[in-house]
Amino acid sequence: MNSPRKLITLDEFTIQETRQFPQATGELSSLLRDIGLACKIINKQVLKAGLVDILGKHGATNIQGEEQMKLDIYANDMLISVLNNSADCAGIASEENDDFVPFTDEFSMNSKYVVLFDPLDGSSNIDVNAPIGTIFSIYKRISPLGMPCTAEDFLQPGNKLMAAGYVIYGSSTMMVYATKVSANGFTLEPSIGEFCLSHPNIKCPEKGKIYSINQGNSCKYDDGMKAFLNYCMENNKEDGRPYSLRYIGSMVADLHRTLIKGGIFMYPADRSNAKGKLRLQYECNPMSFLIEAAGGLGSFGEGRILDIEPTELHQRTPIYIGSKNLVNKALEFVSPKVLAN
Ligand code: AHG
Repeated sequence: MNSPRKLITLDEFTIQETRQFPQATGELSSLLRDIGLACKIINKQVLKAGLVDILGKHGATNIQGEEQMKLDIYANDMLISVLNNSADCAGIASEENDDFVPFTDEFSMNSKYVVLFDPLDGSSNIDVNAPIGTIFSIYKRISPLGMPCTAEDFLQPGNKLMAAGYVIYGSSTMMVYATKVSANGFTLEPSIGEFCLSHPNIKCPEKGKIYSINQGNSCKYDDGMKAFLNYCMENNKEDGRPYSLRYIGSMVADLHRTLIKGGIFMYPADRSNAKGKLRLQYECNPMSFLIEAAGGLGSFGEGRILDIEPTELHQRTPIYIGSKNLVNKALEFVSPKVLAN
């Protein structure tokens, strides 16, 4: 019998994907559902952010005498709580925590996966109602089952990721995630409270018309980077017009646009930050995994982001990410020596 509806929920989709792999146990699907659940609860709170003056400012005490929590702390606590309750997560590492957190109950210690996340990326945008997001990544642990997970489980390169993605809290709320098979987007249908498949098999356009960077920092960039910015500002596109600059200052929002419309997003090294600003394990690896699953490219200037061997949980890296052609063009300017080799 034909299904009377066209909607495919996140759960249905991940279960259908799992069926392609007879050895799969369904744990990865459950974990994605758990992350989706945490993000739906976070979304509810984000939607109320504009009402803080009415409901009470963060840090202040509300009418019931409870202290209002900062949204990024709320998001962090929610993800930890949901993943701790899940039977499929051995431990987490968060941009908000100094160290990773192993879960030590019997079920968690026997779980195959660890999860890393930036609970609320772009949180400085909350006050101006611009999109923000949660970024997540999932690795299969290396440490033996039956004991608490260890640091080495979280310090794996991006090329070992099993799944990664983000939830964007914007004009609609979307979860976009990739496995090694494909990248897919799910829009939250508020009336049924489910993420529904809306962007199947996303492909990042090979070319793009938009560059995205905090150009205010350009006085601190090296000559190669300055030359690439000049290239973007000149008439270099096929239609004879300069590239457009778009920069929200929320990586999830800037990357979401780059994924769908094409273009390049950059946070390079500069005179004050030799490694750039963005975090390898919480931001750059998951986004590079996703973009590459969609046919794009993520580079740190001298190679793939996904091939960096992490040494610290909170390490930073420069990033050039987006449409393959435009990232390769940027690399011609920023790492000519590497390209010549
Ligand atoms: P935060 O979560 O502290 O607001 O940081 C946001 C991150 C990232 O999402 C964004 O691309 C970048 O920092 C913006 O940095 P600049 O303000 O330096 O451009």
